[in-house]
Amino acid sequence: MSPSNYKNPLTSKPLFEQVCIIGLGLIGASLAQAIKNNSLSKRLVAVDRHQPSIEAAIEQGLLDAGADALSQVVSGSDLIVIAIPVQAAEAVFTDIKAAMQNGQISNDCIITDVCSTKVNIIAAAKQVFTDLPNGITNGLPNGLVPAHPIAGGENSGYHARRSDLFINHRVIICPLASTEDRALRKVRALWESVGASVISMEAQHHDSVLAHTSHLPHLLAYNLVDQLASHDDNLNMFRYAAGGFRDFTRIAASDPKMWHDIFFANQSAIIDALDEYSDYLQNIRQLIIDKDSTALMGLLGRAQAARRHFGHMLASTPYTDTSAMSASYIISPNTNNAINGTITIPGDKSISHRSIMFGSLAEGVTHVTGFLEGEDALATLQAFRDMGVTIEGPDNGKLTIHGVGMHGLKPSKTPIYMGNSGTSMRLLAGILAAQEFDSVLTGDTSLNKRPMERIAAPLREMGAVIQSTGTSGTSPLSITGREKVGKPLQGIDYDMPVASAQIKSCLLLAGLWAEGTTSVTQPEVSRDHTERMLSAFGYEVSVEGNRISVEGGGKLTAGDIAVPADISSAAFFMVAAAISQGSELTLTQVGINPTRTGVIDILKLMQADITLTNKTYVGEEPVADITIRSSNLVGIKIPESLVPLAIDEFPVLFIAAACAKGRTTLTGAKELRVKESDRIAVMADGLQTLGIDCTVTEDGLIIEGQGTHNQPTKVIGSQTHNDEPVFSGGHITSHHDHRIAMSFAVASLRASEQIVIEGVETVNTSFPGFAELANEVGMSIEVDKGDANNEAGDKA
Ligand code: S3P
Repeated sequence: MSPSNYKNPLTSKPLFEQVCIIGLGLIGASLAQAIKNNSLSKRLVAVDRHQPSIEAAIEQGLLDAGADALSQVVSGSDLIVIAIPVQAAEAVFTDIKAAMQNGQISNDCIITDVCSTKVNIIAAAKQVFTDLPNGITNGLPNGLVPAHPIAGGENSGYHARRSDLFINHRVIICPLASTEDRALRKVRALWESVGASVISMEAQHHDSVLAHTSHLPHLLAYNLVDQLASHDDNLNMFRYAAGGFRDFTRIAASDPKMWHDIFFANQSAIIDALDEYSDYLQNIRQLIIDKDSTALMGLLGRAQAARRHFGHMLASTPYTDTSAMSASYIISPNTNNAINGTITIPGDKSISHRSIMFGSLAEGVTHVTGFLEGEDALATLQAFRDMGVTIEGPDNGKLTIHGVGMHGLKPSKTPIYMGNSGTSMRLLAGILAAQEFDSVLTGDTSLNKRPMERIAAPLREMGAVIQSTGTSGTSPLSITGREKVGKPLQGIDYDMPVASAQIKSCLLLAGLWAEGTTSVTQPEVSRDHTERMLSAFGYEVSVEGNRISVEGGGKLTAGDIAVPADISSAAFFMVAAAISQGSELTLTQVGINPTRTGVIDILKLMQADITLTNKTYVGEEPVADITIRSSNLVGIKIPESLVPLAIDEFPVLFIAAACAKGRTTLTGAKELRVKESDRIAVMADGLQTLGIDCTVTEDGLIIEGQGTHNQPTKVIGSQTHNDEPVFSGGHITSHHDHRIAMSFAVASLRASEQIVIEGVETVNTSFPGFAELANEVGMSIEVDKGDANNEAGDKA
C-alpha cells in the first residue's frame, strides 16, 4: 500500500470544522495527510515560511488554503497544531493570541503541538497568554493540550510525508490543570483516528523520560563521532571503525539544528541525565581498572537481559502480558501421521527455576547446563539479576551464577516482574518474605488472577508482612522487609491443605532464614526438587514420610547442576506417539523423578506401550530414555493418588483419553482449576468443540473415548495405519495456557479437519521450539505469527 493512501477504516465523521497546521515539515505534513485521508476535518489550512511546500500542498489538493503568516489563513479554525521547532513556540503563541483578540478564532479554540519537549512549550504559552478574559485559566488557554507523537523518519520535509507515520506509534499527551475535557477528548480522538495509541503523562516526567531515552543517546552519538573526528589520525579511525561504531552513531546523521534546539529546550532534564550517565561511566571505568570480572559481567549481563526484557514489554509478547496474543497454530489433517524418531526435549522447568534460586543464594559459583530458556524460567533469571546477582548466559542452556550468599540479595529498583510464572512468584515470595528489604512481585494478566493467599497466609503465620494487593487474594504482592518489621521470621509447623510443591517450596525457602524449625506436612506426595536441591547444595533437610523440615540459619554451597529433560514437555510427545498408529519415538534422558512420573503410570494403565532404558542419574535427579509406540488405549478410572504426580500432564492425558476405547474418569483434581487456566473447563470446552462427549465435575472430568480398536488398517509406504479420526476440526483458544495449546496440537493427529489454535505465543513459557520439534517427528504444524511483533517507533 502506498503510505500516503493510508485511511483508517474505522473513521469517518469530521472531528473539526477547520484544522490549521503550523509547519509543514515531516510531522506536520504527515499529520495533514492523515487528517485529509481520514476526513477528520471539513477544511485544512497550513502556515509555512517555505512557499514551495504550501504551493505543492494546495496543488495536490491536500490544503484548502495556505500562507506564510497565521493571520492570513487561521480564521474559523477550531484546532491549531503547532508543528515547528520548540524554540519558535513563543512567537507562534503570540500570533495565536492576536488571532483570538481580533476575533479570527475563538478563545476556546483547541491548540496542540507535536514538539519534543513539553515544559518549555507550556512556559512559552504562559509567557504569552496572561491577559485574555475568556477561555483562560491560570494564564493558559482551556483548549491547550501539549502533545508529542513518538514517531519520525530518516527523511524530513513536506515531500517525505507519510500518512501512516503514526500507525502503531505512541502519542504522549500532557494535560494541564487548565485543559478542558472536551479539548482532551478531541485531541485524543484525532491521534487515535490516525492510528496512534495515546498515553498521558505529566510534562516534567515526559521531559525527563525523553531526556534519558532519546536526547541523551543522540547527544552521545554526536559526541562520539566528534571525539573520533578530532583525533590526529582520524582518517584511519574512521576507516577501521566497524559496525559497532556505525550502529551506535547512526542517529548522529539527523538534523543538527533540531538537536541544538532540543538540547537547550530540555536543558535541565538533559543535564540530569548526563550527570547520571557520567556516574555510570565512572563506575564501569573503575571496574575495568580493578579487573573486577564478576561485577563487569554482572553489569553487561544485566544490560543485555534488560534490553531483551524491554523488547518484550514494548512488543507485548507473553513475557509481559499474555492478553496480547495473536500467533496461531494451523494444523491440517495428516494422512501419514506416524510419530517417529529420537529427540531431546528441553530442560525441566521446575528444576531450571530452582537452579537460579539456589545458585544465587549459594556461596561460590554454580554452573548450570540444560537450563530451559523458556519465558517462565527467564522470568526467574531476570528477577535475580534485578536483585543484583551476576548471571552469565543463558548460552545454549549454560549458565554461570555468581552466588551472593544468604544475605547478599539487593532490593530490586522496580517491582519484580514474573510474567506468566506461578512457580517464580510463589517460591520468590518465600525468599523475599525473609529479606531485610521491601519488595513487590507482579505478573501478567493471567498470573495476576491466580490464588496467592495459599502462600501468603502461612507466610503470615511465620511473621511475614505480605499483602496481596490484587482483588481476591491475587498478586501484585507487597512484601515488607524484616528491617522494618524488626524481627526475623519464625519457624512454623504447617499442615498443607493441598498437595502443592509450590506452597511446600515457598515455606521451606522462607524457613532457611527463620528462627527455629519450619515443617510442612503435605496431604500427598508432590514434586520434591526443592528438597533434592537443598541437599545437593549442602543444606540439611529432614524428610519423614510426608513431613519435611529445615532449620533456619544455614548456608548453601555452590555446586554444578545438570537439568534433565522435562517430563511434562515429554508428555506431549508420549501421547502423540501413543495415539498415532505406526509410531515409535524415543525421548532421550528425560527426568523420571518418582514424584513426576504419574503420566507414565497413567498411560501404562491405559495400556500404552512405554519402555524406559538407559536409566541413570544427572546430579540428584534420575533420568532415562523413554520409548513409546502406538497402541490401542483404553479408558480408565484415574487413581487419585496419581493426581499430584501428573498434575501438569492432564490436558494432554485428556487427549489420550478421547482417543481411548471407553470412558476415562478423573476425580480429586480440583487443583487443575487454578493452573495457568481452569484446565478442567477449558479442556472440556475445547474437547466439545472438537466433537468429544465429556462431562465436567467439580473436581475432574469424564471423557467418553472414541477409540474403537477394530479400525481398518491402511498401508502408507512401508507403514500400517489404522488411525481413524477421533476429533472433528475447529477453532481452539489457548486461554493464555501453554499446555492447552500444545495438547490440542497433539489432538490434530487424529482430527478429520483443520484445527486452528489461537494464542500460541504462550507455548514459549515452557517449551520454546515445540512446533519445530513436533514437525521433525512427523507432525505438520504451521505457525502463523500474526502481528505480535510490531516494534514501537522512535523519535526525538
Ligand atoms: C511446580 C509445581 C506444580 C506445577 C507447576 C510447577 C513447581 O504446581 O503445576 O507447573 O515447580 O513447584 P503446584 O505445586 O502448585 O501443584
